[in-house]
Amino acid sequence: MATTPSSTPSSHAIRQYATTTGNLTARIALHGYGTNSQDWFSWLAERLPLTGDVLEVGAGTGRLWTRIDHRERGLRLMLSDFSPAMCEQLRTIPEGRVVRCDAVALPFPEASFDTLIANHMLYHLDDPASALRGFARVLRTGGRLAVAANGRGHLDELKAIGSAIGRREPRLALGMNDFSAETGPAYLARDFADIAVERYHCDLELPDADPILAYLNSLADEPLTAPQRSAAQAFVRAHADVSGVYHVRKHTVLITASLSTASR
Ligand SMILES: C[S@@+](CC[C@H](N)C(=O)[O-])C[C@H]1O[C@@H](n2cnc3c(N)ncnc32)[C@H](O)[C@@H]1O
Repeated sequence: MATTPSSTPSSHAIRQYATTTGNLTARIALHGYGTNSQDWFSWLAERLPLTGDVLEVGAGTGRLWTRIDHRERGLRLMLSDFSPAMCEQLRTIPEGRVVRCDAVALPFPEASFDTLIANHMLYHLDDPASALRGFARVLRTGGRLAVAANGRGHLDELKAIGSAIGRREPRLALGMNDFSAETGPAYLARDFADIAVERYHCDLELPDADPILAYLNSLADEPLTAPQRSAAQAFVRAHADVSGVYHVRKHTVLITASLSTASR
């Protein structure tokens, strides 16, 4: 199992992810209140163009691989993340190889993989275009790229709570660069062909403020104060519908592309 030192993760990513899986786990939990009966990871698993040698970059806790049996499908799975905490968790996935590395400096030879997955991670990078060039380098000709990103309006009602209680973290942390559902296709078009976008239709219906408080805390350097918690609870009550549900819009897409001979 090779280990490579990280070089340029953003300071935000280091604060959020380097020493703990807890912030990511808290945020994934919020999406358990989704209106689509098929959760994101299952939906994604059905659509990923998976063959042969598969690399997931910024694989986090490896949740995707609880929805895909890579061994049954004969895939050779390589998982990577810059975070030591995430890599420790990834090493519990049977027969997955784990390499700790920065997504903008992948330590793999040219044309090593048939599929590369970047699920909700490109918006963490200071230079997504440079990461995409590296993704093209390690993919084989005809190889497939699958990127998940968020778009306009995503979690706006959650960011509104942050603003209402004087915490700017949600607004900053959910838009760290300009890579999004809207800009993603043009970014990919520099190195890839056959670009397709599909939206995952799902919003959130939150029964009370607790999952929101957990989410806001997961983004913050300092936990919310007692007055901020009370203000968030009051905001949610004031903006809930008649049945007490607070609605939050999501906007998430899967963007797929291929590496053509021309793009090499
Ligand atoms: C929002 S999480 C998504 C994790 C996983 N793909 C999922 O969907 O559950 C973003 C992940 O990207 C990783 N990450 C952020 N910047 C990175 C970088 N420069 N190189 C490698 N991984 C990075 C973080 O450690 C984190 O695990």
